[in-house]
Amino acid sequence: MQIAQTSPGTGSSPPRARMRSDAPSQLLDGSWRFRVSPSLRAAPGGEWDRADVSAWSTIEVPGHWNLQGHGSPAYSNVQMPFPLDPPFPPDANPIGDYVVEFEVDPDVAGHAAQTLRFDGIESAAEVRLNGAVLGTTRGSRLTHEFDATTALRPGTNRLAVRVAQFSDASYLEDQDMWWLPGIFRSVTLLARPASGIRDVFVRADFDAATGAGSLEIDVDADAEARIRIPELGVDAPARGTVAAGAVAPWSAESPRLYDAEVSTAGETVRIRVGFRRVEVRDTELLVNGAPIMLRGVNRHEHHPERGRVYDADFVRDELLLMKRHHINAIRTSHYPPHPDTLDLFDELGFWVIDECDLETHAFEYVGWRGNPSADPAWRDAYLDRMARTVHRDKNHASVIMWSLGNESHTGTNLDQMALWTKQFDPTRLVHYEGDWSCRYTDVYSRMYASHEEVRQIGEEGLAGPATDAAAAEARRASLPFLQCEFVHAMGTGPGGIREYWDLFEAYPRLVGGFVWEWAEQGLAVRGEDGTRRILYGGDFGEDVHDGNFVIDGLVSPDREPRPGLTHYAAVIAPVRLAVDAARASVDVANRFDHADLSGFELVWRRVVDGETVAEGRIPAPACPARSAAEVALPDEARAPRDAATADVLTVEAVTLADAPWAPAGHAIGAGQDARTPRAAAPAATADPAARFDETTGALRGLGALEITGPAIGIWRAPTDNDNGRLHGEADPRRVAERWEQAGYDRTVSRLVAFEADGGSARIRTRTAPPILDCGIDARLTYTAVGPAAVQLDVEIDPTGSWPVDWARLGLDLTIDAAPTGLAYAGLGPVSAAPDMVDGAAFGWWQIAPDDLTVDHIRPQESGARQGVVDATVETAAGALRIRALGDPFALTVSRAARAEIARAEHNWDLTADGKTHVSIDLAQYGAGTASCGPGALPRHRLAPGAFRASFLLEASA
Ligand code: GAL
Repeated sequence: MQIAQTSPGTGSSPPRARMRSDAPSQLLDGSWRFRVSPSLRAAPGGEWDRADVSAWSTIEVPGHWNLQGHGSPAYSNVQMPFPLDPPFPPDANPIGDYVVEFEVDPDVAGHAAQTLRFDGIESAAEVRLNGAVLGTTRGSRLTHEFDATTALRPGTNRLAVRVAQFSDASYLEDQDMWWLPGIFRSVTLLARPASGIRDVFVRADFDAATGAGSLEIDVDADAEARIRIPELGVDAPARGTVAAGAVAPWSAESPRLYDAEVSTAGETVRIRVGFRRVEVRDTELLVNGAPIMLRGVNRHEHHPERGRVYDADFVRDELLLMKRHHINAIRTSHYPPHPDTLDLFDELGFWVIDECDLETHAFEYVGWRGNPSADPAWRDAYLDRMARTVHRDKNHASVIMWSLGNESHTGTNLDQMALWTKQFDPTRLVHYEGDWSCRYTDVYSRMYASHEEVRQIGEEGLAGPATDAAAAEARRASLPFLQCEFVHAMGTGPGGIREYWDLFEAYPRLVGGFVWEWAEQGLAVRGEDGTRRILYGGDFGEDVHDGNFVIDGLVSPDREPRPGLTHYAAVIAPVRLAVDAARASVDVANRFDHADLSGFELVWRRVVDGETVAEGRIPAPACPARSAAEVALPDEARAPRDAATADVLTVEAVTLADAPWAPAGHAIGAGQDARTPRAAAPAATADPAARFDETTGALRGLGALEITGPAIGIWRAPTDNDNGRLHGEADPRRVAERWEQAGYDRTVSRLVAFEADGGSARIRTRTAPPILDCGIDARLTYTAVGPAAVQLDVEIDPTGSWPVDWARLGLDLTIDAAPTGLAYAGLGPVSAAPDMVDGAAFGWWQIAPDDLTVDHIRPQESGARQGVVDATVETAAGALRIRALGDPFALTVSRAARAEIARAEHNWDLTADGKTHVSIDLAQYGAGTASCGPGALPRHRLAPGAFRASFLLEASA
């Protein structure tokens, strides 16, 4: 077996479309015999495929061997796990030998020919059938078919596949993910009938001006073929152009598909046709004549137990979850997914960038020296990968762009991939982010460009192509712009989505973006005590790894939404509602690209102090795509501007009918007008309600509740985004590092003065980081207003020169009992940071103890509720009610102390200390997205400054 070449695999049939055929097939998946050798040299040579396998172990196909007890997984991002020595893999390179014996099903054997199909083998394989070498594979996530006709025999057949974990192909497959070798997609034996159909390519065009559909058909068959689309009355020879008459177009919003069959005397294949036209006009991206907005995510194939093995129910469920969160576009980062996924994309409605299985990112470490993209020796390998990608998926309506791959820099091999693709399929656009000159791409694509740069790119589009610029620049300026990756959903965050989206909507050239990434790629294992734990890079003892950089999704590995998904969904919601409670009216903005609002209604609800006082539903206004209308609500919806109690009018646009992803009543947009007057300051009482530690000025208790604090807090347990470098900034150091260097995590407090008299106490403290001469002068005035209640007035004045912004400014206190819940009036129920609040609505929320903070796989600051005016922190020892007398506050309630959260590397290693940790924050630094991308925008940072706040604190049993 040869595993150090620059050429593609050998012996396979030319790539072709995936179709459903009436010819029989036989799935060879199941339990196979398996053995692994530590290197190719150590693996038995010669006729290894004829070995006695009775002593071999068994393995499930499809599957990855290192998730089935043979070796262990490894994660690296850009860096290769071995020296950059192309095309050679390292000597230490597990070689897996697979053997299965089977009898050919009679109905498969009864046909003229048989094809053996592999849908995915990582990374290189040699295929032997009954001793005959059928060929080899390259392109782990690509389909390879071999003609098995002459090698098959009656009775027992033996199929043997030798798989190298690493090979020359690994240099082209350096994607940011786990290295997971093996036959991880199905193996199928297909009958090939005489007069059968080898390949079909149907291009289904839609003319928005006339409403007519037409088909351009190429069939590769040994016999005359006909195409039939019964629903459209199409029944014609399957070649050239066929008119389809009036059709309903396909779009991600209305994914209308027509069943088509192509038949010869020997075979019938079925495909589903969606009519649509993709074009670029005047810097805009149009489908069916209308501009579209890509509300996207990057999707890897990942299952916490099975790796990249396809699980039909799991995948369908995750796509439904995307639809429920208004996601309408997917980039298949960074390889074509399992072929059935494309059927789901077509059926559920997603705009898809189908990406080739290609990434040579590791060469960036050496300034791209030796990069295969620019080396003609690898040309055929590149073209082979692209052809396999395009051919397999070419009949899918959802695919609107072909992507050459990811992060492979520039070079002639990429140019040639693009040229071939455009020639073969002019109905779609070519995407590639790695070449900003855009010489051969049809869209200008970038990743993680800052807000400011995106704005400039939008403006450049308004001006049109600059005539005096270099030709390449002029071409680039004429293209639509998208961010194939923007905002990095790692840990708490991402912040700044809304600001990006406002830009995308402001400039026609900007056609949206794809969040990196959909799901956290953690792998589940059982700990010694039998509990399930999610692991990341380094946890399997890898020498080379990139830690938790693989945990960066909008959903957990088990597809539980992280707060970022809720906020993203709100930003991209297809309907935006601006509610005016005083006028009892709502401005409805329809942000769909094609659909009107006839499938929706508006549901409104007016809630006063937590009680619903009026509600109703009215039809959505007649409002074509990308237009707005004002709707009057009934009089009961009206709330006086000077309401004395909290008076909240919420309007949602909801679906009228069941959709595959959600039953009727699913919200596709929401807006609210919340009036939340502050509690009035009660009269002072003479008897003290609070107990103090007169040596520190801190509380010891309120009423019967044991409380310690408050201390002034300016630090948070670093988030993944706090740990990202601030590229392009004057000081690019990680903000977490700067906080730590400045000592914000270990401030000390000195009592300046303590005065108590009757029901009131006045405390002055100075809180400062060690080493430096800056500090915070705090004046805390407590006034008893009941037997267990105080008014707390806070005055904060920083002095001196501070080296870096504060992470937050809060009053941190600890209650000496574990939390049992949180009830609050404020923005929620989802937790939020100041720059990620869109998915939170004002309400009266009850939070269960497990939901107080977010169970991030690497623990970090999380769980803040913003805009809180009234909260009751419930603990095993009683409750503490906190009401804002002035501005609302951000509230964090946690079972673990910040230092412990910062220490723990994994959620299963985080210890709750039996106390309730409460932070009442007057201000916070935004989340940003610096784990990959810009930090918090300046407006969401927190410069040291003076603050004033007043609260009512009340303890109850
Ligand atoms: C991009 C890359 C992705 C991922 C991301 C960071 O550069 O294309 O694959 O690595 O960065 O998570």
